Amino acid sequence: EKGGYDTFMEKEIHEQPQAVNDTLLGRTNEVGALELDELRISEEQLRAVDRITIVACGTAAYAGMVAKYAIEHWTRIPVEVSLAHEFRYCDPIVDDRTLVVSISQSGETMDTLMAVKHARELGALTISVCNTHGSTIPRESDAVLYTHAGPEVAVASTKAFLAQITACYVLGLYLAQLKGQSYAQDAKAVMAQLQQVPDRITELLGDLDRVREIARFMADTRSVLFLGRHVGFPVALEGALKLKELAYIHAEGFAAGELKHGPIALIEPGQPVFIVVPGPDTPHGLHGKVVSNIQEIRARGARTLVIAEDGDDAVVPFADEVIRVPRTAPLLQPLLTVVPLQVFALELATAKGLDVDQPRNLAKSVTVE
Ligand code: M6R
Repeated sequence: EKGGYDTFMEKEIHEQPQAVNDTLLGRTNEVGALELDELRISEEQLRAVDRITIVACGTAAYAGMVAKYAIEHWTRIPVEVSLAHEFRYCDPIVDDRTLVVSISQSGETMDTLMAVKHARELGALTISVCNTHGSTIPRESDAVLYTHAGPEVAVASTKAFLAQITACYVLGLYLAQLKGQSYAQDAKAVMAQLQQVPDRITELLGDLDRVREIARFMADTRSVLFLGRHVGFPVALEGALKLKELAYIHAEGFAAGELKHGPIALIEPGQPVFIVVPGPDTPHGLHGKVVSNIQEIRARGARTLVIAEDGDDAVVPFADEVIRVPRTAPLLQPLLTVVPLQVFALELATAKGLDVDQPRNLAKSVTVE
């Protein structure tokens, strides 16, 4: 049942190209326009949406944080990401022009379910992005957009995360298309780029031996930091979460720009820090800013573990290790950069002799509040 792999988690990491591919399937028509017939909310209602709130927990919330950058960029509709267990208690601003998008692999997470129910009571339109057919959250929502990752057994979420980002991107591009021509220009091009991503992930999965080696050498490490900017920021948070839940190591993710506002004080000689580097063509000079962040922490003795695109040589002088990922469009990069971080956590936990599929204190679906 583990398909030749030692653990479900490893199997599921290797199923990621398929998960992205299957989540894209059947969602465009013969001229490449998006068609989400399954959505069950009228186009008029969706056109009237003037605000989006994403509710989710854990890894699903990080998928939501990635999606926020993309959906706002494509649609110019403000998107807020709210941890589902906070949403109900913060007197949320929601009305019938608000679209509340819940993201949940299991479809049974109680915190997320309660947030959806609350949103409906307040009159919002609700869409569930979910991986489990017939589960509770889709039933309690106005509409559902399934991720087609297949069953995820390991407690640590991997392929569902990639499928969630993919489904949210499809939704964002669809909303952009509904808003009209000037917004839709991007949609076809981005869908074409998304369709290339599964092959890029397959390439990457064949090239992670060095990450495994680094992880094995780090089995005694007590703390690891993760930095990213823009869509790389939630990837840093996800990398840290994977390490906490699997390897029981203190790990923290930061927005790289926050460094000088506090966290840089944590840097001492030998402190391992992963840095997710945006592609060199990312707008707003983001790449250069992250390279400066690497320089700053290296100067203070950090051990820099740099995740950078193929051909990005600017990082080399400041990197103790460079982990390469294939080049892709800036907004699609999380679908690649998170993969070495998943493998790192898996391998380190394995080196410590831990049960990666069933980490202590955790359940696959959290059905209590
Ligand atoms: O089933 P859900 O997507 O609603 O679960 C949400 C979180 O509990 C889940 O992502 C959790 O953070 C994972 N263990 C992370 O690996």
